[in-house]
Amino acid sequence: MKNLKKQDPQVYKAVLGEIKRQQEGMELIASENYVSEAVLEALGTVFTNKYSEGYPGRRYYGGQEYTDVVETLAIERTKKLFGAEHVNVQPLSGAPANMIAYSAVLKPGDKVLGMDLSHGGHLTHGHPVTLSAKVYNFVRYKTDASGKIDYKQLEEMAIKEKPQMILAGFSAYTRQLDYKKFQQIAKKVGAITMIDIAHIAGLIAGQAVPNPVPYFDIVTTTTHKTLRGPRGGMILCKKKYAEAIDKAAFPGFQGGPHMNNVAAKAVALGEALKPSFKTYAKQVIKNAKVLEVELMKYGFKIMFGGTDNHMVLVDVFGSKGVSGKEAEKALDKIGITVNKNMIPDDPRKPMDPSGVRIGVPAITTRGMKEKEVKMIANWINAAIESHDNDKVLKEIHRAVIGLCKKFPIYKNLR
Ligand SMILES: Cc1ncc(COP(=O)(O)O)c(C=O)c1O
Repeated sequence: MKNLKKQDPQVYKAVLGEIKRQQEGMELIASENYVSEAVLEALGTVFTNKYSEGYPGRRYYGGQEYTDVVETLAIERTKKLFGAEHVNVQPLSGAPANMIAYSAVLKPGDKVLGMDLSHGGHLTHGHPVTLSAKVYNFVRYKTDASGKIDYKQLEEMAIKEKPQMILAGFSAYTRQLDYKKFQQIAKKVGAITMIDIAHIAGLIAGQAVPNPVPYFDIVTTTTHKTLRGPRGGMILCKKKYAEAIDKAAFPGFQGGPHMNNVAAKAVALGEALKPSFKTYAKQVIKNAKVLEVELMKYGFKIMFGGTDNHMVLVDVFGSKGVSGKEAEKALDKIGITVNKNMIPDDPRKPMDPSGVRIGVPAITTRGMKEKEVKMIANWINAAIESHDNDKVLKEIHRAVIGLCKKFPIYKNLR
């Protein structure tokens, strides 16, 4: 970064600080990951200068011989990874991808069955504070006492509500969804099926969890979580919806795509096609399972009865009498980053809920395995139990930094 260093020391210093923070911190936020240096390089290319409204071979501006190359690569790699009939790689992120997908196939006022936020759904799946909830009529389904989606109840709800769309997918739910059941229920009531795989896209690409693409009309995702790409979104769909999706993305919702970002998506998708990505995805699942088992041994209550993916949702207040906010703060002090999170039907407020969400995609990218996860679970327990003892927290912090240094990232960045 020699030019940045010379020209803008303030920004340069902040970048250096962030590199150090990422190197020395234990990143356990379930939606974060470390991209490769090749992805970082693609993000920093001259593609950022280019306007390329439209799609490969049919653009509104000239000079598209190279943008067409990277966008086509990203599309074809996604098709190959997920077996998708049609792919749009232009959504700027996950939230716009969802808005584009809704607007492609719904009219304002249409009804959508989506998963409740406190039961693991996402804000953009119909939370009242969002634009989507102002435009469409969301009705929310929940998990039952065992932590599973009650498909019988979902079917009864679908028959009663007659939604135009049934939406699956989540941000904090940890169990495997029954894709076929969603498909069958939607068919019964004539609804379109959509799934948001933002959290598990990398696990699907790495064949560590089942692929929903054959079962759903529309699939939205982010590219920056388990898929380990740049920040961004994508929409995969059946051929039948291809034209509607493309038109809804541009000109319907967005202007020019961010081509540096599309180039970086292509690079990340290329990485996901390699055999080593399968090993990564399988290790993510193994690490999450060890985290679940270890935290349970320490007396933590794991929501939804356990995990089948890359994260666990822990009821820290119910288990240890420490709120999600206090737990997040204590873990911050030992250099472990997590996020406070609502648990199903949380009796506490969203800004200080009962739970924390803990995910392992980023530490798995660093090469950490079962042995390290056991150490991390031990530190998490110790920090939460000693959340008001700064001396103990400081000691654990030193140990956390020590382990991070054994699994270095971004050694060549400066
Ligand atoms: C399931 C799901 N969908 C959509 C989004 C929104 O993605 P973005 O933050 O890229 O807009 C998220 C982000 O956390 C998510 O978890």
